[in-house]
Amino acid sequence: KPEERIRPQRLAEYIGQKDLKEVLAIAIQAAKARNESLDHLLLYGPPGLGKTTMSLILAAEMGVDCKITTAPALERPRDIVGLLVNLKPGDILFIDEIHRLPRVTEEILYPAMEDARIDITIGKGQSARTRSLPLQKFTLVGATTRVGALTSPLRDRFGLVQRLRFYEVDELQQIVLRAAEILNTPITPDGAAEIARRSRGTPRIANRLLRRVRDYVEVKARGADVNGAIAAEALELFNVDPCGLDWTDRRMLTVIIENYGGGPVGLETLAAATGEDAQTIEEVYEPYLMQIGYLNRTPRGRVATPAAWRHLGYTPPDNQLSLL
Ligand code: ADE
Repeated sequence: KPEERIRPQRLAEYIGQKDLKEVLAIAIQAAKARNESLDHLLLYGPPGLGKTTMSLILAAEMGVDCKITTAPALERPRDIVGLLVNLKPGDILFIDEIHRLPRVTEEILYPAMEDARIDITIGKGQSARTRSLPLQKFTLVGATTRVGALTSPLRDRFGLVQRLRFYEVDELQQIVLRAAEILNTPITPDGAAEIARRSRGTPRIANRLLRRVRDYVEVKARGADVNGAIAAEALELFNVDPCGLDWTDRRMLTVIIENYGGGPVGLETLAAATGEDAQTIEEVYEPYLMQIGYLNRTPRGRVATPAAWRHLGYTPPDNQLSLL
């Protein structure tokens, strides 16, 4: 199915994240040469940059299976124990949102990561005893948007801690060209570049926008290749502006500018004013706005930069500079 082939399957097909790929290629080659499992790996960075994809690629490169789960699903000890005891030698266990692991689960992971064993308590009260159960050597791949929210004992048990960065426009353009080919959607390099510029440095968004543009061209311009003009027209319709900002991004910046003179304004206030959840603002919206220099986080709150004022058609006041 084309939908499944859009995710790159091997390291060589993975576009961008050059430093990460280099580090992982070395780890893979060394582990294979020693006939060992990969070291535990923590991937962090904004959502949609390819953490799950990379975990699946590592499994493919190592010739092992990858079990995928998410921290909130590991509520009871037996949830994590069930996964761990079923792993085959060298298998990868991918835990998304690993900063949200319940404490009991996290404590089971410590000896599992360190010594490939779990300590389980059998019985209750006076007759309770602990048993140590050996596991196969495995690789934990943890993913998080908030590396600072991990406890240090957990963070310290990862041999590799790697950050994923926002993608460059030319990398996203290549990703869109590749995905369009898999989806059988004729597209020009300009068309792919237009989608890339509006994708907030994020492949998941690029692929989503490509689908919207593909629908648009099939309905409005049957048989036409997706070119820059068609892509721009389609994405305007979906309220994605030339910088990739959507309605919520613009609303956040507009609230800061119109209601709070450009800031600083507290996160909770911003959340209430936009109807978005504070954590989503922090983890999904703000990283890209900061990356493109439209927003700053200060100890007193969020500040819209002069570039943000201009992007939204306002004239920045001179005294704003003192806040940056
Ligand atoms: N699709 C999504 N992310 C990708 C990447 N990094 N490389 C190639 N195709 C992708």
